[in-house]
Amino acid sequence: MATQMERGVPLSVLCPKFLHANSTSHTWPFSAIAELIDNAYDPDVSAKQFWIDKTVIKGQDCLTFVDNGNGLTYEAMLKMFSFGYSDKIAVNGLEPIGIYGNGFKSGSMRLGQDAIVFSKSEKASCVGMFSQSYLKEIGAEQIIVPIGVRDQHKASLKDILRYSPFKTQAELLTEIRAINSTCSTGTTGTRIIIWNLRKTSTGLTEFDFMKDCYDIQISSEVYEAINDKPQPERTTSSIPESEYSLRVRNNHTYYAMLTPCRGGTDQNTQLTVAQCTFQDA
Ligand SMILES: Nc1ncnc2c1ncn2[C@@H]1O[C@H](COP(=O)(O)OP(=O)(O)OP(=O)(O)O)[C@@H](O)[C@H]1O
Ligand SMILES: [Mg+2]
Repeated sequence: MATQMERGVPLSVLCPKFLHANSTSHTWPFSAIAELIDNAYDPDVSAKQFWIDKTVIKGQDCLTFVDNGNGLTYEAMLKMFSFGYSDKIAVNGLEPIGIYGNGFKSGSMRLGQDAIVFSKSEKASCVGMFSQSYLKEIGAEQIIVPIGVRDQHKASLKDILRYSPFKTQAELLTEIRAINSTCSTGTTGTRIIIWNLRKTSTGLTEFDFMKDCYDIQISSEVYEAINDKPQPERTTSSIPESEYSLRVRNNHTYYAMLTPCRGGTDQNTQLTVAQCTFQDA
């Protein structure tokens, strides 16, 4: 490992394996999703709506999280992909939930190996990739995060096109445009796509997308594993829905209005499973 110095003193650096280690703080997959919802709700982003979908991109199951908040600039996305940089302040009496500068990293990497973030702020559109598979494939010794704005940052864009599911600039632009097609109001927002979703030891995704097409549920296999089976006194029907249903859980946790609705394109077979409309605080 090459030593980097600052003032002649060695810098601490992060090994890519830390991304997985850091994600293990979320034993329960819904707490990882909560990190992404909290970020959209926080006063710096101030989203009014938030959509959680399961979609298939190039044959891969993905989770998508879209908000119509303020979006991110290049600099803000770099902070989002870094650790410990949180400078949120209360706005109009709404106290921020996020304080540690870690939730996006731990939450997204708990849900899958890789994430790509498309964002539109008032100033610019940008795309960034936060990806364990990428770091592994290139043999990275430290965490590098390709971020690109339009035609600038050529090296980043090249790596995003090579290692993400999106292979052309036109495909990236389509995803950026999708932010506005999802959001009924506003022209800014952020779309996070997570792929290489975490799987159980039997090769199934830990979420059951088939049981209820308007919901994302924790599969019974994962539920039992997390709850340290066996629990003979607990039958499936006695488990509270909020423990395995994302739709019910969000309804309880965020006091949000959840409107299940279908949407999306033929190409990506998108299914909107939960739309949260945040109520004014
Ligand atoms: N959906 C989003 N839209 C715009 N900015 C976002 C979004 N999600 C995250 N960010 C930005 O990325 C930063 C990092 O998010 P992260 O969740 O890692 O940390 P945090 O929310 O500041 O603190 P905590 O670890 O307590 O959650 C946030 O401070 C916020 O500025
Ligand atoms: Mg956060």
